[in-house]
Amino acid sequence: MKVDVLLGLQWGDEGKGKVVDVLTPKYDIVARFQGGPNAGHTLEFEGEKYILKSIPSGIFQEGKMNIIGNGVVIDPALFKKEVEALEATGHTLTDRLSISKKAHLILPTHRLLDAASEKAMGNAKIGTTGRGIGPAYTDKISRNGLRVGDLFHNFEEKYKNAVARHKEQLSQYQFEYDLEALEKEWFEGVEKLKTFRIIESEHFINKQLAGGAKVLAEGAQGSMLDIDFGSYPFVTSSNTICAGACTGLGIAPNRIGEVFGIFKAYCTRVGSGPFPTELFDEDGQLLRDNGKEYGSVTGRPRRCGWIDLVALRYTIMLNGVTRLVMMKSDVLDSFETIKACVSYNVNGVETEDLPFDITEGFEPIYVDLPGWKTDMTKMRSEDEFPEEFNNYISFLEEELGVPVAIVSLGPDRAQTIIR
Ligand code: GDP
Ligand code: IMO
Ligand code: MG
Repeated sequence: MKVDVLLGLQWGDEGKGKVVDVLTPKYDIVARFQGGPNAGHTLEFEGEKYILKSIPSGIFQEGKMNIIGNGVVIDPALFKKEVEALEATGHTLTDRLSISKKAHLILPTHRLLDAASEKAMGNAKIGTTGRGIGPAYTDKISRNGLRVGDLFHNFEEKYKNAVARHKEQLSQYQFEYDLEALEKEWFEGVEKLKTFRIIESEHFINKQLAGGAKVLAEGAQGSMLDIDFGSYPFVTSSNTICAGACTGLGIAPNRIGEVFGIFKAYCTRVGSGPFPTELFDEDGQLLRDNGKEYGSVTGRPRRCGWIDLVALRYTIMLNGVTRLVMMKSDVLDSFETIKACVSYNVNGVETEDLPFDITEGFEPIYVDLPGWKTDMTKMRSEDEFPEEFNNYISFLEEELGVPVAIVSLGPDRAQTIIR
């Protein structure tokens, strides 16, 4: 069998969690392949709302195995909180969640290093989620990281050495911290983590595939935050693109099946960095208000703007997207006119290719499309779509060259239309 991949095509928060939950009944296994508790994946159903950070979004569907893959970074303290919050609502997870031995650990000192580095950068800061993501992946790449599998072999010494190294790094910053309190909850988290099945997930997944199981790989963040192809340096520290599913789960490229690329019918971003179609006017505020655009991890207001087809064409290319998923279409319900950026004017030359530098020296070129001015949130079938909405979808499909297979009209599981 093949592995289908679902990932964000913009700057994150496209609605990945919701769609993974909707698609899970078609799969046997849902696996996260990168990122960590910087993610906040929101699911709403039966009047309840859940925000998942490290746990895959297939967790609420009966009889499915969820895997935290080797490409993910895990903070045991935050993991424990997340698990306990779900347990408190009656969900038991130990029988349906497994964790890769090769996933790297986010230590308390990684979180401190993240905060210290951001503080030192002042206005030039990345605007990270403060979860220690960058420092944890830095240790991974510099071959100093600690992995989940290390918890079972002489861990105390490895931990002490890592912390000594981190303290040395922290001493270079003007930064006060209380490590003891953080360590206490971290080690309690480690005990919680150990109650789950810790597996060699690459073997498990490949054996399951060979036996006919269907796997959905769940991405975190979005392609414009990819460490290689995103708006560097204002990116996260992992490969968020489809290739990340291969390295983050141990599956071969020829195993990739469908690639679901998710985008909002407009665009948002949290944190610093370029955002060519960002709006600073009342339309931007309307998108923020209608879309409740406040970060699910940090609560920060998200920056809002029009859909950027230049950036989308780029990320569709990088990911080999086979099906598009359009989210939050309802947020545009009240707009008279909708704008879509179709190309950039770079120093007087029109281009449809994303330039190396999207900070300055260029201008987005928009086309205007008529809004549908209809409340779509209660629609349950494609047949009810207003003509202007169908035209918007057709326009996007033509511009992007990939069919829109799923449309989302609200945060609830039920507000989803599969075409
Ligand atoms: P993720 O990180 O990609 O899983 O997305 P987030 O959960 O961070 O952000 C998406 C937000 O939009 C969440 O608050 C969802 O509940 C909400 N949402 C998802 N789909 C829709 C939709 O179609 N319409 C509206 N209005 N909200 C949606
Ligand atoms: P989900 O999975 C939106 C952004 C941060 C910051 C940059 C680096 O919910 O879509 P990091 O903490 O990763 O070092 O921060 O990346 N960022 C996200 N933005 N959604 C996310 O995840 C994000 N995860 C990280 O705001 O700009
Ligand atoms: Mg999110």
